[in-house]
Amino acid sequence: MQPSLALQEDQEHLPTLLATDAQELSYQLQQHQAKIFPPQSQKTMRMFSPAEAAAFIGIGEGYLRQIAAEGHGPDPLSNGRRLYAAEDMDRIRKVLDERNGTPKYVPWRRGSEKLQIISVMNFKGGSGKTTTAAHLAQYLALRGYRVLAIDLDPQASLSALFGHQPELDVGENETLYGAIRYEEPRPIADIVRSTYTPNLHLIPGNLELMEFEHETPRAMAAGRAETMFFARIGEVLTEIESFYDVVVIDCPPQLGFLTMSALCAATSILITVHPQMLDVMSMSQFLTMTSELMSVVENAGGRTSYDWMRYLVTRFEPNDGPQSQMTGFMRAIFGNRMLQNAMVKSTAVADAGVTKQTLYEVDRAQFTRGTYDRALDSLNLVNSEIETHLRLTWGRK
Ligand SMILES: Nc1ncnc2c1ncn2[C@@H]1O[C@H](COP(=O)(O)OP(=O)(O)OP(=O)(O)O)[C@@H](O)[C@H]1O
Ligand SMILES: [Mg+2]
Repeated sequence: MQPSLALQEDQEHLPTLLATDAQELSYQLQQHQAKIFPPQSQKTMRMFSPAEAAAFIGIGEGYLRQIAAEGHGPDPLSNGRRLYAAEDMDRIRKVLDERNGTPKYVPWRRGSEKLQIISVMNFKGGSGKTTTAAHLAQYLALRGYRVLAIDLDPQASLSALFGHQPELDVGENETLYGAIRYEEPRPIADIVRSTYTPNLHLIPGNLELMEFEHETPRAMAAGRAETMFFARIGEVLTEIESFYDVVVIDCPPQLGFLTMSALCAATSILITVHPQMLDVMSMSQFLTMTSELMSVVENAGGRTSYDWMRYLVTRFEPNDGPQSQMTGFMRAIFGNRMLQNAMVKSTAVADAGVTKQTLYEVDRAQFTRGTYDRALDSLNLVNSEIETHLRLTWGRK
């Protein structure tokens, strides 16, 4: 038999084949997800040890013990130990501030302190944007700030991580697209959802966000866009800005209109980078393209100056020679525009991700103590360094 003939007989109609495969995959993946993480199981934050709670509140452990003994903390367990829920930490902050008569432990912005908008970006897929954004948003909320997380990625991994399945739980015009679309946008306040993390709200994402990429060139060509595309996110955020201290935007892995809009809405930028040759080369391209696009946007009146921008090294393996070398290389070039702390690679982060959880949600008993604690220490160092930048921007210590 002629090989070419055999091929022809086996030929399939590719569009049909792909559609069938996609359907089957999607179904099986959902079944699998449902098994390891049933939808009816409510997601929650984990309970925090006294040491962790004291650090989140910003007081010493001894003082926390005293306040808890006065009846402001959670009830002790049968072994006498107290574990703190996020809600307990919030309550104690309020008690402390009432006692002192000044706002200090409740860290909401005051006076002329402005809303800060952090965009987490890089067009390199898998550079750790979503993991960084999710843990940063939760960390800041646990520290008592009022946080809005926005999932700007049509793949919606951040939404899924926060328990909102993009295909099942997010309907039409329920992503940011609903508020920034050119025709009949809806108030952004109607799209915001609360989450199981106190102080943390979410605007979920799903595939409809892609519409913005398609509509923007059309709107621009037709001269329809009342505001330029790059101003739209910033504009809708002003409608709700008084409710929040910090907005964290998880960007998609491409440099389209969504990412450019997030760039222009932002007051600060976090660029995540995995310290490997190919990733760094790809980031270099990203920086060139971003810079060129920003010049165009700048000429049209878009924002191009920021309170701070930092590179964050992600999934760092300190014992990997080439990675350490690459990190040193970047430090030499970027200087203090690199965060001092890097996020280490850890099976705790990866495994928690499989069950759609963060390190602030998974039960630490699930892991080897050392593994979990090393990951958490690294994470808290990164997040608190970012918090320092936020506080400095507000002129706080
Ligand atoms: N510190 C870490 N240790 C181990 N695994 C990690 C770590 N950070 C991220 N990962 C894993 O790497 C993968 C990619 O991370 P993540 O989704 O955060 O990247 P991303 O930049 O948002 O990707 P995309 O470009 O697709 O949006 C995920 O499976 C995540 O669980
Ligand atoms: Mg992502």
